[in-house]
Amino acid sequence: MEQAHKSPRKPPVTVLGIETSCDETAAAVVRLENMGVQILSDVIHTQTDDHAAYGGVVPEIAARAHAELADTVVARAVQDAGLELADIDAIAATSGPGLIGGVLVGMMTGKAIAMATGKPFLPINHLEGHALSPRIGQPCPFPYLLLLVSGGHCQLLDVRGLGDYKRLGSTIDDAAGEAFDKTAKLMGLGFPGGPAVETYANNGNPTAIDLPRPLLNRPGLDMSFAGLKTAAARAIEAALLTETRKADIAASFQAAVADILSTKTARALSDYSSGTGKRLVVAGGVAANKTIRSALQDVADKASAELICPPLRHCTDNAVMIALAGAEHYLAGASGNLAAKAKPRWPLDEASAAADPAYGGGKRGAKA
Ligand code: KG4
Ligand code: ZN
Repeated sequence: MEQAHKSPRKPPVTVLGIETSCDETAAAVVRLENMGVQILSDVIHTQTDDHAAYGGVVPEIAARAHAELADTVVARAVQDAGLELADIDAIAATSGPGLIGGVLVGMMTGKAIAMATGKPFLPINHLEGHALSPRIGQPCPFPYLLLLVSGGHCQLLDVRGLGDYKRLGSTIDDAAGEAFDKTAKLMGLGFPGGPAVETYANNGNPTAIDLPRPLLNRPGLDMSFAGLKTAAARAIEAALLTETRKADIAASFQAAVADILSTKTARALSDYSSGTGKRLVVAGGVAANKTIRSALQDVADKASAELICPPLRHCTDNAVMIALAGAEHYLAGASGNLAAKAKPRWPLDEASAAADPAYGGGKRGAKA
């Protein structure tokens, strides 16, 4: 959110959220009450089939699909909620970081509704949506440590309060999910690659191929996956790609990612102190991976921390998290900003970004 908060409002507040920053066209209506979060509707149209042939998200195709779908998806979300637009207090839309074409479609849709209804438009940082996503389904009081690990992001964040986020570490090159997708593509396993690599890995030997764990033994919480991805590519080219070889590469690659994520998260958790006990939240599509999840469960157990994994639907891209971020800000007094601009790069933690000009805070290969 960009604007300063005014005086807090009284619950309940009802917010329409729109998410279009990558390859999901999503809209949802959320009501925030004293009792917690009520999801009144939750519509997600995934474009996976449109991008499958290319082995990755094609920005132009994504933008066109969002433009074709946004109005229907939003109309369905309002209808499923059993509401009229007049019943909604504010409209929130992802305003970055993300693929600019999609972000523009979502913002324009949200702004048009805001203008037509006279309701406030709330520009939401997509990363803030992920950061708040554990609060959708259960009480998850601040503060908590968040590992956000998806196709576009890989970072450790200290979520201290609404609008108060500190980036503790992030990938310095590729996101972990991106590395999964590229490795799968090179083995001809289809898109999205993560689930396919996991399936192959189930039949492979995780120690069969010696793959690097870049930055693992360096101090600090930054991560790197580019060298691992390149080493996996070399292993793919080095020998006949039998089903057994594919399974061994997949298992060895997955083990390396699990090592990197769990080592850095363990380090972050050991530095992390909170008055109310430690909570580790893992969000993003890669959190669906069972090997990675169990490695992170071990990390949490060793640190006597609670591991919270939002249900997959709300841990991958969705509009409920955007509506919730909007609702939390609206409740805190945000007044809306129709002049907000789309930001393809928008670090959540502006202070860290300012201190480190190389930090892009974007997605899809940017340092995020
Ligand atoms: O959060 P998400 O749906 O979208 C964004 O990228 O923002 O995450 C998608 C990513 C993809 O890179 C996908 O390959 C990866 O999450 N992924 C997985 C698994 N399921 C999805 N990676 C590893 N193992 C999985 N089971
Ligand atoms: Zn995301």
